Amino acid sequence: MTNSKKETWGSRMGLILAMAGSAVGLGNFLRFPAQAIQNGGGAFIIPYLTCFVLMGIPLLYVEWGMGRYGGKSGQHSTPFMFGALDKRFFWKYLGVFGIFTNLAVAAYYCYIESWTLSWAYHSAAGHFLGQTQGQVAAFFNTYVGLGTSEPVMFWIFCLVLNTWILSRGLKGGVEMAAKIGMPMLLLLGVILAIRGVTLSAGSHGAIYDGVIGLNYLWQPNFSSIWDPVVWRNAAGQIFFTLSLGMGSIHCYASYVKSKDDIALNAMSAGWMNEFVEVVLGSAIIIPIAVGYLGVDKVVQMTKGGSGFGIGFMTLPYLFAQWGPALSAMAGVMWFGLLFFAGITSSLAMGTPCMAFMEDNFRWGRTKAAWTFGAAVLLLGIPCVLSQEAFGEFDYWVGTISLVIFAMAEIILFAWVFGMEKGWKEITRGADIKVPIAFKYIIKYVTPLFLLVVFFGSLPEIWATLTKKITGAVLFARILMVALFAAISGLVYVANKKKVAL
Ligand code: TRP
Ligand code: TRP
Repeated sequence: MTNSKKETWGSRMGLILAMAGSAVGLGNFLRFPAQAIQNGGGAFIIPYLTCFVLMGIPLLYVEWGMGRYGGKSGQHSTPFMFGALDKRFFWKYLGVFGIFTNLAVAAYYCYIESWTLSWAYHSAAGHFLGQTQGQVAAFFNTYVGLGTSEPVMFWIFCLVLNTWILSRGLKGGVEMAAKIGMPMLLLLGVILAIRGVTLSAGSHGAIYDGVIGLNYLWQPNFSSIWDPVVWRNAAGQIFFTLSLGMGSIHCYASYVKSKDDIALNAMSAGWMNEFVEVVLGSAIIIPIAVGYLGVDKVVQMTKGGSGFGIGFMTLPYLFAQWGPALSAMAGVMWFGLLFFAGITSSLAMGTPCMAFMEDNFRWGRTKAAWTFGAAVLLLGIPCVLSQEAFGEFDYWVGTISLVIFAMAEIILFAWVFGMEKGWKEITRGADIKVPIAFKYIIKYVTPLFLLVVFFGSLPEIWATLTKKITGAVLFARILMVALFAAISGLVYVANKKKVAL
């Protein structure tokens, strides 16, 4: 017996918090508000919620179901989990995506996570006080341009911390981190959200009430309901925020005992993420930024939809208007919140990679954890050095691969394994009644939806592939292909060993 076969979650609360911790991440507080603003505010929310119901919830059920099923045969990562559902060899190689994406997303995600530590430190030390907005922006640009050695130090510290927590295992590491991180995050989020929505014109130099920003986000608006780009972005946000299409949910779910509930657990974690995203995520940076700068300026500042500019350049500057004590507190709370959100997500990316080595090569978890840390360090170097490489990773791995993986898994689950058996898997031991409509949504609607999203983005993929590229982009692409090939090689070797046994 290997380590990972004996491991299980310590408690149901721990499992739900860890799953919610994986979902609640930087995406909830930076990416969501920026995406919502960019896609027309209230016009975004209808496609977004539709995607949640027709794609998010069904995929959550499928991923939890596949995960618990794989765990029964001792598999905690997707290559042989897919293999357990159907014997044909190619499924195992499609399952490679479930390790590949975790490693490659972790490569840039951990780097952003480390920024939050540095910004929390500089906020506490009062470094942003008295700076102009230009100076705060220059600080950011020097930082990401590696004008100092500080980014590297914070990054390595952050990697070591992640690795150390992972090496303590599921119960003592991941679950413990979630039990501390999630309540802290909720507390900080609620305080900052109250501050955001009660910001009033005239106090501390604000020009508008914070509520103006909130209204812009929530004013129902049907103008862009037929715009395919808005739908694509809504689908992308649902994928990213729920951690779908990556094999991470499968892995956490594979440690659930086979008779235990997954239906209610999946809904608890999924809805907790939506609450944090839609309620807290929209009540912090948008109201505060709009309060000082107005809607038009904020729309301009969120171009690209990443939210980095507003989160790391604008907010510290605005906090500094609140005086030394309040601004230090606000800065530590905001970047502390982002840190807790980030680390519970990056831990979820480590677990499937470790489980793969533990299950198939009989590694111990300490060796697996440090190997994961080293791999993220090596893969992260190009992302730290070049923002182009970063963008390339984020596009192919953080966006396109998720959709490909999700198409594969839903076809495997609903059509190859079969929806009758699949439905039994989802509902076995269920503590709630899953609406029967989801059986048909999973079989017909979600796959169709995914196909439409995928084919809809083919022209853009083609345009990206045929564009002239720089050396950094080429290097990032070669690295991604090599990584995928290397993991496939490991699957091949592991498979041979299994057949020989
Ligand atoms: N859901 C995370 C966020 O909102 C990011 C994420 C995407 C993720 N895929 C993941 C986290 C896989 C953990 C595992 O920021
Ligand atoms: N531009 C990427 C995106 O829109 C990068 C990104 C934005 C991101 N926000 C993020 C990556 C939060 C990780 C976490 O997805």
